[in-house]
Amino acid sequence: MVIREALKYGIEQLGGVQTPVLDTQLFMCHVMKMDKLKLLISGDMPLNSREKEAFIKLVMRRAEGEPVAYILGECEFMSLDFYVTKAVLIPRPDTETLVEAVLERFPKGKLLEIGSGSGCIPISIAHYNKNISCMSMDISADATAVAIGNAQRNGVADRAQFITASVFDGIDGIYDCIVSNPPYIESDVVPTLQTEVLKEPVLALDGGDDGLDFYRYIISNAPSHLTKGGLLAFEIGYNQGQRVSDLMKDDFERIEILKDLAGLDRVVLGYAKG
Ligand SMILES: C[S@@+](CC[C@H](N)C(=O)[O-])C[C@H]1O[C@@H](n2cnc3c(N)ncnc32)[C@H](O)[C@@H]1O
Repeated sequence: MVIREALKYGIEQLGGVQTPVLDTQLFMCHVMKMDKLKLLISGDMPLNSREKEAFIKLVMRRAEGEPVAYILGECEFMSLDFYVTKAVLIPRPDTETLVEAVLERFPKGKLLEIGSGSGCIPISIAHYNKNISCMSMDISADATAVAIGNAQRNGVADRAQFITASVFDGIDGIYDCIVSNPPYIESDVVPTLQTEVLKEPVLALDGGDDGLDFYRYIISNAPSHLTKGGLLAFEIGYNQGQRVSDLMKDDFERIEILKDLAGLDRVVLGYAKG
């Protein structure tokens, strides 16, 4: 079997997924250890039996609904490469809106992130601004291990540190910025999510009955961990902007709701009142 035939086979098998051509090409690049350009000019190259078997296995996993990032064990975020395992949420392009908002507004200092997952938020911030040092916490020890690996992979382990702890536990320092993309899906919506999303950890998704449990807890405790005038920035669900802003208005000022590239509310941020 040559590459062209294998690609055709893969695309046919992946008829039920959103991007069969792209996914099949990514698997082939992975198995043949080549980039997309090389792949496109190598249609007549034969696969040996090990390559063919490996390719078919990847395609089958995808056909069963496993996300591409889990199959390949990595994905891209903010133009950086991150390891991902089933212990962590797959970094979403939407979350780049939060990272960019923080990078634009927070020039230097100490940042605390709540809910590390892969570590994509503090690692990107530390990578793009050398004047920021980040501490991040996640209740999942498996997620913490992935995030530590990612900080090393991206050369920021000295400025992006990770601990396993629940929200604010063991945090006694004062930070200049607190950022979080917490679990924000309503509990009874979680079981109705797409099969692919349900392969991700429920711990990363479930935000309680109205999806706002983490916002309430973080907003009420943030003032004692934040400098006066410090920035609090959240990723939110598309329909949570007004409710999260309302939760912030007693202790925070200059509150903004920012939209993502799809034009949906995606970030709420504000500054601790002096
Ligand atoms: C929506 S994910 C965000 C992951 C990552 N920051 C990102 O943006 O891709 C939320 C994260 O919060 C973590 N988490 C859930 N409950 C927590 C808690 N009580 N304390 C700390 N982290 C928690 C989950 O394990 C998960 O990694």
